[in-house]
Amino acid sequence: MEHQTDRKPNFPPRVLFFPLPAQGHINAMLHLAELLAMADIDVTFLNTDHVQGQLQQRTHIQAKYAAYPGFLFRTIPDGLPKDEPRSGEQSILRVLNSMLKTTKPILKDMLLSGGVLGSDRSPYVTCIMADGIFGSLANEIGDELNIPVIHFRTISACCFWIYFAIPDIIKAGELPIRGDEDMDRIITRVPGMEAILRCRDLPSFAQIRDVEDPQLHRIVEVTRQSARAHALILNTFEDLEGPILNHIRTQCPKTYTIGPLHALLKHKLTKRLSTTRSSKSIFEEDRSCIAWLDSQPLKSVIYISFGSLTVMTRDTLMEFWHGLVNSNKRFLWVMREDMVAGEDGEIPPELVAATKERGCLVGWAPQEEVLAHPSVGGFLTHSGWNSTLESIVAEVPMICWPNAIDQTINSRYVGEVWKVGMDMKGHKCDREIVAKMVNDLMVEKREEFQRCTAEMARLAKLSVDEGGSSYCNLDQLIEDLRSVQQ
Ligand code: UDX
Repeated sequence: MEHQTDRKPNFPPRVLFFPLPAQGHINAMLHLAELLAMADIDVTFLNTDHVQGQLQQRTHIQAKYAAYPGFLFRTIPDGLPKDEPRSGEQSILRVLNSMLKTTKPILKDMLLSGGVLGSDRSPYVTCIMADGIFGSLANEIGDELNIPVIHFRTISACCFWIYFAIPDIIKAGELPIRGDEDMDRIITRVPGMEAILRCRDLPSFAQIRDVEDPQLHRIVEVTRQSARAHALILNTFEDLEGPILNHIRTQCPKTYTIGPLHALLKHKLTKRLSTTRSSKSIFEEDRSCIAWLDSQPLKSVIYISFGSLTVMTRDTLMEFWHGLVNSNKRFLWVMREDMVAGEDGEIPPELVAATKERGCLVGWAPQEEVLAHPSVGGFLTHSGWNSTLESIVAEVPMICWPNAIDQTINSRYVGEVWKVGMDMKGHKCDREIVAKMVNDLMVEKREEFQRCTAEMARLAKLSVDEGGSSYCNLDQLIEDLRSVQQ
């Protein structure tokens, strides 16, 4: 087989996707991979062995991609011992660090040995679509092998922009944070966010007490690498984050906004096929909750999910549980096996009884379908970016209990800018507060939120419909991917 570097120009394009092996990242990147496959762009989706092992158990996912002739899954080791845990936030950081140390030579070898990442119809990778978190590594490989690199950031544009501005914030003396009493201080040095950004809203990596924090510097460096990439992709839409996107484009002029990707994919699938099921879960979904929702009154259920990575203490779990029960609302709650730190304990009988009466607990739900269900009237979320977009599209107002990464700034925008929910951050996680907020969301302020959620959902839909900004940007991206191979 010829080397990648000797490639001939007349093969069709092949895009190599390289995601961080976490559900939120894989979801968004698989959505785009499928959209490209539908446009006859061949795709190689590079998973870690661990994730690929999980995906292989989801036969409907395997069958779906097998239907696209140019779609390949390939694997790469994450560098950790086989039995090392890979779930939860701390573990994903360990996986990331290990991959940053070990994958570059392996990936470079795979790219150099022609057909490993391709097929007969398109043997060579013509563009690397790297998770932005691997941006530095991908740019180095791209430079060395002369392959264009596009960065895909799965976080919100607001979070990306704050990372970009960190050096200016530090220079102005607005970081570090001096203590808990400093959390409401306004950070003024992020263009476009002068009045709304408090210390507590900064992404978790930026909530530093020491300006030499190595993790923060790594995030800043990797973010700035996006300005060197061929292009940047963000899973957002112009009507949602337009003012911030204008600022981002001063640094990364070729920024494609193609979100909400799950809605864009659904729109394209509806036009093409009879099925629109777009699940990309690497975990097994418990679909019994859909039947449970079917038997509940309209907009009566609050859905609770803290995403794929959040880990909470048992005390926090109990405060949420009591609060939900005390609110007297019906609830559907995703309780992942690895969601609570520490030992299992006895569940108070009153919680067990109330849950039996008006609750439903599952280990993993078909979330997009749940949010679109007519019985769901609210979402208590950790404000992960995918969950936020899914809720916006489904017109479901949110209570935000952010935990880490971009969630802290996403929740600020939900509560303060888009007004499609309430930010619980800054409050203690206390059963009375939970009960009150659930009641406000589902009853007292329901109409107030309804106006904003309806308008934002309308704009999201417009962006993915034919002629909308995300729809057109995807077409341009496809053109771009076809032209870079020549
Ligand atoms: C993380 C970050 O929080 C997020 O902000 C970043 O952009 C990507 O990485 P995660 O914490 O898992 O992701 O949250 P989120 O972005 O909301 O992604 C979770 C995904 O899992 C969503 O697409 C959601 O639909 C799906 N999910 C969640 C299910 O399908 N079923 C569930 O039961 C729970």
